[in-house]
Amino acid sequence: MTPRRILAAIVSAYLLLSPPARAQETTKSFDLIAWNSGKFIYGVDYYPEAWNEDQWEKDAAMMQAAGINFVRLAEFAWVKLEPREGKFDFDWLDRALKVLNAHGIKAVLGTPTCSPPAWLYARYPDVAAMDENGVRYRYGSRRNYCLHNPNFIAATERIVTAMADHYKNHPGVQGWQIDNELGDPECFDAVSQAAFHKWCQKKYKTLEALNKAWGTVFWGHTYQTWSEIPLPWNTLGKAHNPSLALDFHRFHSDSTHDYLKVQTTILRRLAPAKAITHNEMGLFDHIDYSDLNRSLDFVAWDNYPMFGKDYASYFGSGLGHDLMRGSKNNQNFMVMEQQGGLPGWSVFWGRQAPPGLYRVWAYQSVAHGADGVCYFRWRTSRYGTEQYWQGILDQDSYANQRYKIVAQTGKELSQLTDVLHGSRVVSPAALLVSPDSRWAFHIQPLVESFDYNHQLHLYYDAFRRLGINVDVLFPQSDFTPYKIIVAPSLFVLDKPLADKLAKFARDGGILILTYRSGVKDEHNVVTDLTLPGPLAELAGVAIHDFDPQINQEQAVVTTDGTSISAHTWFDILDPTTADTVLTYGKGYYAGKAALTRNRVGNGMVYYVGTDLAQEYYVQGIKAVAERLGIPLGLSIPEGVEAAVREKEGMKILFLLNYTDQPQKVSLGQSGHNALSGEAEPEEIQLAPFDVKVLTTP
Ligand code: GLA
Ligand code: GLA
Repeated sequence: MTPRRILAAIVSAYLLLSPPARAQETTKSFDLIAWNSGKFIYGVDYYPEAWNEDQWEKDAAMMQAAGINFVRLAEFAWVKLEPREGKFDFDWLDRALKVLNAHGIKAVLGTPTCSPPAWLYARYPDVAAMDENGVRYRYGSRRNYCLHNPNFIAATERIVTAMADHYKNHPGVQGWQIDNELGDPECFDAVSQAAFHKWCQKKYKTLEALNKAWGTVFWGHTYQTWSEIPLPWNTLGKAHNPSLALDFHRFHSDSTHDYLKVQTTILRRLAPAKAITHNEMGLFDHIDYSDLNRSLDFVAWDNYPMFGKDYASYFGSGLGHDLMRGSKNNQNFMVMEQQGGLPGWSVFWGRQAPPGLYRVWAYQSVAHGADGVCYFRWRTSRYGTEQYWQGILDQDSYANQRYKIVAQTGKELSQLTDVLHGSRVVSPAALLVSPDSRWAFHIQPLVESFDYNHQLHLYYDAFRRLGINVDVLFPQSDFTPYKIIVAPSLFVLDKPLADKLAKFARDGGILILTYRSGVKDEHNVVTDLTLPGPLAELAGVAIHDFDPQINQEQAVVTTDGTSISAHTWFDILDPTTADTVLTYGKGYYAGKAALTRNRVGNGMVYYVGTDLAQEYYVQGIKAVAERLGIPLGLSIPEGVEAAVREKEGMKILFLLNYTDQPQKVSLGQSGHNALSGEAEPEEIQLAPFDVKVLTTP
């Protein structure tokens, strides 16, 4: 062979051996059920390293009997995998996988970077993040490393490379979960500050541009060298430049994404056949998931319906599911941690749930687009901070009621796999979430009673109470499939988004805007346009005055003279082209508009200047939906949820009873029970904590 042909042969052999890495940013839809060998993913988070090896076989058999075909492993096992710097031990994990695989259970491996070994902190103390007061975190918890630290990045690359190399061809390993619940903490040390300077330089190119964008003329904060730029003190009350603070949020989100990419780059290069995900946190807003998820194959998240004040309200988890789905183009997702028992974190307790509710929540996940449900955790830990955070089993491994419910659900979901496969959530209505506005409200939170998520819920819960599916959009999402978009408190707004919303309305959409919209430009600088700034023409109103609620009472008056109490914030509206729907009832602006409606092109724009009680949102959305001909879901009693997935020729209706009472729902047509295979009457009976899955053409 000539040298050139030898070279060509080497190159082609190399290309054959190393398939091209997939694009870093994946947008194409990922078929989770096909990925899991055609099975609905039904799993548990399992920590074999914490139990005697002779228990593994018993566990795997008990899992298999409950329909478990999937586990997440190893996300906190760094020190077991790399007991000394650069010395690896995969034997124990290989043995655990062997036992699980033999029972038909495949795995996702967590890259264990959330919980670094003590030796790493001892040798490189600067891997620990520094808080905003300049204090470094100590070793002993988890998730407190500094994203920018070169020693930490090097250690990350080493463990991820070793894992990828060891498991790249393992048939029982389906893919990876990067780290665990990325997002915190922000790091305020000198390395982070230098990284922030670099980020600013890349964004603004010149200091002049930065000073102008941030309005550093205020209080004489003008920067003359990049190194003068401080990190913000985000603590409320410690006044800092809101423009700098917003960029710091963006920087932290971008840095988190960069850190994730350190890992995905290695995994895609060494193990291109394995899929990559991350376990996210629903409404958690320190990072922009819609950006992060561009680097993942599919979305997974951690769903704890009963951890928090909202016990027994299904809306919280519902919105979490819908937001997670929306953060990657509405693609189906999986739940990586589905609540499997009572939450109890150190000293904080949730409440114990009736066992039947665990089944309802699993079905809720599926109804909202999950093609996989994995419970946290198989068995409650005997050790550490989470001794009270129940798994399905307790420490004694007794096959309790939760286990029985989980097993029943597992059998059912396996039976429903074919029906579910290829179906997705389709919604006529959507909520727009603005990561910039959420961050800006963290920096300047308006009044104490204001809560961005509460704004989302006022509308979300109303749609859901009416049985209408809801999607969640981000600024870059496609707005065209929707009939109605609610964009609450678009505090920070750039021109492209304002234009996109205007187009949506002109083309026939219904757009609902609420108070404090269009106030700031993309730099968190107040607009010099009349409020609501770039939305003023669209809304057909001018706002020359507003009134935060401190302790005064306010009300709005309907056209028939009814007075309804109003809260939180009062934008005082002067209609330019809009019609007045509600007026204020009290104080010096009594009689001025509080809610308006403006016809724009083929659509309509509402501006809601204040907060009302939830029931009025249900009434309002109902009236709008009826006018638009959006089929209202079913008339459902309080405590029952109706949600729909669909695919060609089939609608799959989930009726979920979260109450301890029997409930009735009128279908208006007969349905086919996807589980029993039998026809269901028009009037559906739901037992306490029961679920029905019905298919209709
Ligand atoms: C003080 C300060 C001003 C201004 C006002 C309003 O009076 O001297 O510079 O900050 O409060 O906050
Ligand atoms: C989070 C974490 C888990 C566990 C659970 C319960 O979701 O990812 O490791 O801590 O909370 O506390």
